[in-house]
Amino acid sequence: MKSFASLYEALAGAGARYRYLLLCGLVCAFTPLGAEPIKPLQPVTGLDPQIVALGKKLFHDPRLSKDETISCASCHNLATGGADSSRVSVGIGGELGLVNSPTVYNSGLLFRQFWDGRVETLEEQIDGPIHAPFEMGMSWPDVVARLYGDADYPQLFRKAFRGGEISEANIKKAIADFERSLVTLNAPFDRYLQGDEEAITKQQKRGYALFKQYGCISCHQGAAVGGNMFQVFGVINAYFTQRGNITEADLGRYNVTGNPADKHSFKVPSLRLAAYTAPYLHDGNAATLRDAVDMMFTFQLGREAPDQDKEDIVAFIRSLAGDHPELKK
Ligand code: HEC
Ligand code: HEC
Repeated sequence: MKSFASLYEALAGAGARYRYLLLCGLVCAFTPLGAEPIKPLQPVTGLDPQIVALGKKLFHDPRLSKDETISCASCHNLATGGADSSRVSVGIGGELGLVNSPTVYNSGLLFRQFWDGRVETLEEQIDGPIHAPFEMGMSWPDVVARLYGDADYPQLFRKAFRGGEISEANIKKAIADFERSLVTLNAPFDRYLQGDEEAITKQQKRGYALFKQYGCISCHQGAAVGGNMFQVFGVINAYFTQRGNITEADLGRYNVTGNPADKHSFKVPSLRLAAYTAPYLHDGNAATLRDAVDMMFTFQLGREAPDQDKEDIVAFIRSLAGDHPELKK
């Protein structure tokens, strides 16, 4: 029985590796010569400014949590990068969460939400933190009742939603549209892609070339430089046996699908704001960007690289961070 289980594990591992190699081939085959696998971020259009402003207020309101101490912004600090600086997040009553908080910047561009991609839309995502006992520990009827008791909210909802009421759906819509507005524009790297040769340094140009040569690009790509596929962490070398203490959260996508091939598979994170969102990885186990890059070489590529190459890649990743009025660099 035991050997069957380990055979199964080995096959699932081989499957991931095979899937990865196939992906590398596809990226090369379908990227026409000269076309860039990373695209500049585009301004969002079509959002209603009143709804966005209401969403911003809700995002910062601790009354969305049971003891009125924690807002979305407590774990997603917009000024410092849209995440927090803890290894795993801390919720109401000092409760420790299970994983590291990702940034909310550019979250509207991700194909799924959460590390394991368990929900598709930003609206659905909000159920997670509102209900989690180690985050906000609330219920929707309580949130709605509280906001009705406020001097301003009833009127703000009526205005933003054209006579609409304070409801779970409208709260979600407002917060989600606010998040959709959090696109970081005008990154040095985007200006470079648009033809400004001087926008990034020589080192950052080398870093970009290396990022493509080593194959980082086969997983971190598109406008968000990530956020458009799932991949096993430890695709080449086993990460979790080396780290030890495997938790349920470490099983990643497997918790959603129950498919053994999805064990330890995660949404590839966007690298757009990686310059500001230390610590890294779903378990917060990489303290610095350099540590995260080292681990990617070991566990995703299964190879070593000269120190200089890694430093160049780190410099390139820093060039991906654009601006937003809420982000204070
Ligand atoms: C106690 C800390 C905490 C609070 C409060 C919190 N979050 Fe999060 N947020 C996290 C963590 C941790 C994750 C990752 C959870 C996971 O993937 O399982 C996350 C994930 C997300 C994601 C998905 C991003 C991605 O890359 O997949 C979004 C969007 C988000 N939060 C928005 C919000 C909003 C909106 C609120 C308020 C309603 C909120 N968060 C409240 C910690 C928090
Ligand atoms: C096979 C796909 C794959 C390849 C190749 C890959 N990555 Fe990753 N990368 C991932 C996944 C999946 C994660 C998330 C792992 C986790 O948190 O458990 C990740 C996480 C990261 C992070 C941490 C981001 C954060 O916000 O926590 C950085 C930085 C990173 N990768 C950079 C790189 C670099 C640089 C390379 C090339 C040297 C690379 N990656 C190659 C899939 C890949």
